[in-house]
Amino acid sequence: MKIFTTIKEVREAIGPRKSEGKSIGFVPTMGFLHEGHLSLVRESIRTADTTVVSIFVNPTQFGPQEDFREYPRDLEHDSGLLKREGVDVVFVPDQEEMYPENFNTYVEVHGLQDKLCGRSRPGHFRGVCTVVLKLFQIVGPDIAFFGQKDAQQALIIQRMVRDLNMNIGIKVLPIIREEDGLALSSRNSYLDHEERKAAGCLFKSLKHADQMIEGGEKDPRRIIQTVKQIIHSEPLARIDYVEIVDLENLDPLDKIEGDAMVALAVFIGKIRLIDNLIVSLKE
Ligand code: PAJ
Repeated sequence: MKIFTTIKEVREAIGPRKSEGKSIGFVPTMGFLHEGHLSLVRESIRTADTTVVSIFVNPTQFGPQEDFREYPRDLEHDSGLLKREGVDVVFVPDQEEMYPENFNTYVEVHGLQDKLCGRSRPGHFRGVCTVVLKLFQIVGPDIAFFGQKDAQQALIIQRMVRDLNMNIGIKVLPIIREEDGLALSSRNSYLDHEERKAAGCLFKSLKHADQMIEGGEKDPRRIIQTVKQIIHSEPLARIDYVEIVDLENLDPLDKIEGDAMVALAVFIGKIRLIDNLIVSLKE
């Protein structure tokens, strides 16, 4: 496994493999890797000839009051995990390499970027799209892997790839969870013992929503109200949003017919966690 910090080195390593006709799979990450990230890595290794993973805590997707500086980092541990999986190339650029002086070009997916998390994190998806497009340009993947954990991000990237005619397949893989249902996230490492227990309320509430829909409830307002009640009963939790939305455009639904996504963001203490569940009303 090769670890590179410059764009030039990555291009020199991947170029010859592409010329040989080898397919390139790519998993962009911000590091502090867990089983959620590794599920994407394993799928890339299974489907592509060469797997590239990037580790870059991208400053442009963090708001001024957010946790860019505190974001957990452990390159040594991460590279050990990736080596064990059989990754070919790891790209770990520094800020200067990705955003040199006078960097001034950004990518936005209007509409989708303003919904759900976009409302409380203005500029977040602009930063995500910009860095992902840059990484795609650097790595030149045939296929890239994203997690359903960040459902809005995955949808926005798919839209960007379609709108800009990028010849890259986007594969979205299921959410990997802890035993109590908490979605794995690098940010879970911030939670203390009490907060970690409290964080169980996210998935508990989503499961409850699922059961209500299975029971035939079609009114999103009633489901959202119940989800909110479950989360409110946890004193350490504060809701950012709970919405039931259309899978394609993320607009809130008036009525559940077929598939829908229950999406939520909840602060546990100071830590903002997100989760979602795709639900379907069976006729
Ligand atoms: P990061 O949060 O490190 O996540 C990298 C990838 O891992 C994303 O596609 C994310 O959806 C996926 N992932 C995280 N937790 C997961 C889980 N529990 N189950 C399945 N997949 C999971 O998302 C980012 O980084 C950044 O925004 C990035 C795309 C790298 C751009 O900076």
